[in-house]
Amino acid sequence: MQVEKIRQEFPELGERVYGKPLVYLDNAATSQRPLAVVRKWTEMSTKVNSNLHRAVHHLAALATEEYESTRDYVRDYLNAESREEIIFTAGATASINLVAFSFGEAFVRAGDEIIVTEAEHHSNIVPWQMLCERKGATLKVLPVDDRGHLCLDLLPILLTNRTRILCVTHISNVLGLVNPIREIVRICHERGCKVLVDGAQGIVHERVDVRALDCDFYAFSGHKVYAAPGTGVLYGRRELLEQMPPYQGGGEMIGTVRWTGTSYAPLPQKFEAGTQNISGTPTLRPALEMAEAMRAGEVQAAFDSVKLFILNKLQENTKVRLYGIPDSPEEKIPLFSFSVEHSHHADVALILDKMGIAVRSGQMCAEPLMDRFGVTGMLRVSFAPYNTLEEAEYFMKSLERAVKMLEG
Ligand SMILES: Cc1ncc(COP(=O)(O)O)c(C=O)c1O
Repeated sequence: MQVEKIRQEFPELGERVYGKPLVYLDNAATSQRPLAVVRKWTEMSTKVNSNLHRAVHHLAALATEEYESTRDYVRDYLNAESREEIIFTAGATASINLVAFSFGEAFVRAGDEIIVTEAEHHSNIVPWQMLCERKGATLKVLPVDDRGHLCLDLLPILLTNRTRILCVTHISNVLGLVNPIREIVRICHERGCKVLVDGAQGIVHERVDVRALDCDFYAFSGHKVYAAPGTGVLYGRRELLEQMPPYQGGGEMIGTVRWTGTSYAPLPQKFEAGTQNISGTPTLRPALEMAEAMRAGEVQAAFDSVKLFILNKLQENTKVRLYGIPDSPEEKIPLFSFSVEHSHHADVALILDKMGIAVRSGQMCAEPLMDRFGVTGMLRVSFAPYNTLEEAEYFMKSLERAVKMLEG
């Protein structure tokens, strides 16, 4: 497949803003949706709309089949051992909160410890702070160095026999660096500590194999990987999920309900209380298929050129401070957060917007990481395989123009 052909699959890319062609470089916040996803979404809303599991009628059977076959597809995609290990959620945040609550209830006691890294999104910090507060546990932080790499040499020092779980992002949404998950898991498992991986960015850029990573939990959102918003996945190791109490109570997650007490449904329904995202969840399949298709051949090669182009340009620009410096380009995804000397990030972003370029500016839901680098915010451009080298070149020229304008 070629990039131009791929672009035709994403109608939003043909939009204009302020009369200029849209250059969408905010893919890490949310990606655009391909037609295959829109078609599945529409089909689920116009032809197969029924609640799941509950009724015996034809439509309910069709909707349930779509939903449950999506679970089989995701199981297969992630190479999980069983379909019971795939829980559908509303997104990465919902998945992490589920684990923080339920794993916390089952396994965390006063005096226990939880480790998060300094490079986490708030979604992988705040639920653990809340858990620590509830349980009287301690939150420890694995720092990053000046180049944005995790200080792995400190991990064995931080881990104690009270550490219950370490929570780490697969790829940071600020630094764009791919963390050595397999190595982290190995060190943690040797000390009896479980590992949750926040895969919100990881799932977009890699074919994730949860058994190869050997992680205990892997969480991601659908909307960043081309699927409908409000969809998400939690992979959890079965033996842990079995021991964890339900996160929410309601319809569908029960065995029997009596005034004398309630029993719970087996996995995965135990963790899927209430009406689920009937029309959104089945879009995960065409979305992941698209992600996979774009990670091959010409499109991947073009994407690599875009990454190298921006990486080199930003690094050679003396006014730019880039955060997340890779040792080799393979360590970084095409996501670049940076500051520009004497220019406020919001001002630069506003000027770029007027040029048709959508970039992110601010704290990027990672305030502790902003503090680490001594800034109140950054600019971020995050590319998808449907972005072209011409767009990358236009962005670099526009950035230079914006900076000149701000210098007066
Ligand atoms: C690394 C990371 N974790 C978690 C999240 C939260 O994802 P969501 O808001 O889709 O739940 C994001 C979103 O930006 C992210 O980039």
